[in-house]
Amino acid sequence: MKIIMLGAPGAGKGTQAKRIAECYGIPHISTGDIFRANIKNGTELGKKAKEYMDKGLLVPDELTCDLVVDRISQDDAAKGYVLDGFPRTIPQAEALTNALKKRGEAVDFAIDIEVPDENIIGRMSGRRACLKCGATYHVEFAPPKEEGVCDVCGDKLVLRDDDKPETVANRLKVYHDQTQPLIDYYTAAGCLKEVDGTLDIDVVFDKIREILGA
Ligand code: AP5
Ligand code: MG
Ligand code: ZN
Repeated sequence: MKIIMLGAPGAGKGTQAKRIAECYGIPHISTGDIFRANIKNGTELGKKAKEYMDKGLLVPDELTCDLVVDRISQDDAAKGYVLDGFPRTIPQAEALTNALKKRGEAVDFAIDIEVPDENIIGRMSGRRACLKCGATYHVEFAPPKEEGVCDVCGDKLVLRDDDKPETVANRLKVYHDQTQPLIDYYTAAGCLKEVDGTLDIDVVFDKIREILGA
């Protein structure tokens, strides 16, 4: 099953993608997590990506597309995957479509998690992230068992560098300009499914499971 997650920054893509991946036994592939891991490890890719991410801008397509196409070609992705944060531009969507077409495949579900801009800033300021395993928490809506510590791997939780309110505002603008057009793209492809992302985390997941038919 090949699934992509669409939605504004903070809509809950990562939160739901992790659950889908666990439930269906497929890998969760988040370009944001891949870039953050590279930043943490001080790689060349990380240095380049950080310049854009800290401003709330998108990392250029040429640094992103090949990375994802390589990743989905690995053995663990043979049965499917959930892509979180990719594609984010029309050229990225086309790169994905073309890479899949070469193998006679296509995206099965594009799940758009809808959350109005007004709700986003509050979610971001309360978010805590684990940069080691990519787990995401919220001080109020999804707290870890022990404050400041990742339930999954025990690493320290942090506020992401790009979760400052002024950067979040920029990310929202970039989302509306560059990523929202993908809703039409995947509607035309016949695989778009919409979910109300303002509902409780568990309820959102139930709705996604209904869509995926399991
Ligand atoms: P990325 O890491 O993908 O960030 P994003 O799209 O801005 O989305 P977020 O991770 O901020 O939000 P999310 O939707 O995953 O929400 P979450 O589940 O955490 O990208 C970061 C940057 O990397 C980009 O700005 C760009 O620079 C670069 N980048 C990445 N991919 C790229 C690409 N393809 N091309 C170019 N550049 C790229 O939830 C948010 C919070 O809300 C959490 O605290 C969570 O606990 C809480 N929450 C979730 N659901 C609910 C709910 N239903 N009710 C209440 N709270 C909830
Ligand atoms: Mg995320
Ligand atoms: Zn962790």
